[in-house]
Amino acid sequence: ESKTSVARGSLIILEGLDRSGKSSQCAKLVSYLQGKGLSVEAWRFPDRTTVIGQMISSYLSNESHLDDKVIHLLFSANRWEKRALMESKLTSGTTLIVDRYSYSGVAFSAAKGLDFQWCKAPEEGLIAPDLVLYLDIPPEKAAERGGYGTERYEKLEFQKKVAEHYYALRDSSWEVVDGCLKMESVEEQLREIAMNCISKCQNGKPLVNLWS
Ligand code: TMP
Ligand code: MG
Repeated sequence: ESKTSVARGSLIILEGLDRSGKSSQCAKLVSYLQGKGLSVEAWRFPDRTTVIGQMISSYLSNESHLDDKVIHLLFSANRWEKRALMESKLTSGTTLIVDRYSYSGVAFSAAKGLDFQWCKAPEEGLIAPDLVLYLDIPPEKAAERGGYGTERYEKLEFQKKVAEHYYALRDSSWEVVDGCLKMESVEEQLREIAMNCISKCQNGKPLVNLWS
């Protein structure tokens, strides 16, 4: 007799500039998918709950200073410390909707002037997303949205550079959605693209590692 294996969950990432609407859209997407009866969890990076995450958080709020390469590696380590859990969730059938991932890691550090390939290297071997939903919004528009906060990186000139590096990272797993559309319209597009991805994963699309 056959042992039925569980259809795996999908790794779905939302990316975009600060104030592109990612966090609200993540929450909406998670509740929509849960409402469909799917096993879905909301994740985010940086995960500020861990010891490494607390170091990152204090750096972002300017309470501590760290060398650019050191903070880059801490962001990466913060993903690595969640890798095993991520894999077990996915293989046991849970879909993860993740607010930021390796693309933020590379785009933000490269925007400081660090070498693009050097920035990608520590991400190699993390789980590759099944889908990256990029909320595309001009940096000027993002800045207008109630203004940026006080965290490091939340400045217009810097965000312009981040946007350029994001574009250099696009691959076949990306779907670019116009983040300037009405919230409901963005929400609707994300739902459709995500459902499509989830069924492909249920039907045997293999899990692979970055950067493939
Ligand atoms: P958050 O606002 O989504 O919590 O992210 C905090 C900031 O950290 C945001 O400006 C993007 C930046 N960031 C990196 O520089 N590298 C990374 O690897 C991640 C995940 C975020
Ligand atoms: Mg932020």
